[in-house]
Amino acid sequence: MAEAPLVEMRHVYKRFGGVHAVEDVTIDLFAGEVVGLVGHNGAGKSTLMKGLSGALPIDGGEIFIRGERIDIRNPRDARHHGIETIYQNLALADNLDAPANLFLGREIVTAMGTLDDDAMEHEARKVLQRLNPSFTNIKQPTGNLSGGQRQAVAIARAIHFNARILVMDEPTAALGPQESEMVGELIKQLKSEGIGIFLVSHDLHDVFDLSDRISVMKNGGMVGTRATADLTQEQALGMIILGKLPEEQPAFQ
Ligand SMILES: Nc1ncnc2c1ncn2[C@@H]1O[C@H](COP(=O)(O)OP(=O)(O)O)[C@@H](O)[C@H]1O
Ligand SMILES: [Mg+2]
Repeated sequence: MAEAPLVEMRHVYKRFGGVHAVEDVTIDLFAGEVVGLVGHNGAGKSTLMKGLSGALPIDGGEIFIRGERIDIRNPRDARHHGIETIYQNLALADNLDAPANLFLGREIVTAMGTLDDDAMEHEARKVLQRLNPSFTNIKQPTGNLSGGQRQAVAIARAIHFNARILVMDEPTAALGPQESEMVGELIKQLKSEGIGIFLVSHDLHDVFDLSDRISVMKNGGMVGTRATADLTQEQALGMIILGKLPEEQPAFQ
């Protein structure tokens, strides 16, 4: 029998008053896989992902982790199941350095109950080294770091606590081309370590470059999911704009 997906969201609903932000959406993700989630503004991508991260619990439907049905009512539940989320704004404390950000709210303390700065710096170096060997100036305030380095800190914070599932909502939206490339490298690295990643992005080029499969949402619904290798950019655009699967799209030329 085939292995159960790492994550499966089945027939998920979320509404805000009269707005059906997410309607009967089914999506899955396997270990070591990147699934790109695309669609116009307001399609429901962030709301769906917030259902998984616990930021906005779902109204209906089911979530399975490795085949086991679970309830995600808040970010703590999600974290407990190895789900971490990186939002566009990264939510870093700019005045603190990378180790302090990494351990914010989960600090290492000595036997005396004081902060164990050495241990936290050592651990931070280990995890950041793994993500980006050239990132060595980790003791300065993260506000002074480049966008790519800040992403590395946010990702390090997410994966350090054994995340198996990473949600990245528009990770490159605020970055320049060079920094976006670095985030792409980080994504490939995490994938090679068996982490499953939902990559929400408006940048189709990035999504085609990094995703194994692409899921398209429109008006709160799921248009469909296709292997990236079986999809052209034109067909993906057809799914986004027309809400039609490639085989339903009118043939041009
Ligand atoms: N907290 C909220 N309260 C009310 N409506 C919301 C909220 N979050 C999102 N929406 C609405 O839900 C729909 C989907 O939004 P969103 O998930 O942010 O889309 P996307 O991420 O694809 O751009 C939109 O119509 C949006 O206005
Ligand atoms: Mg969004």
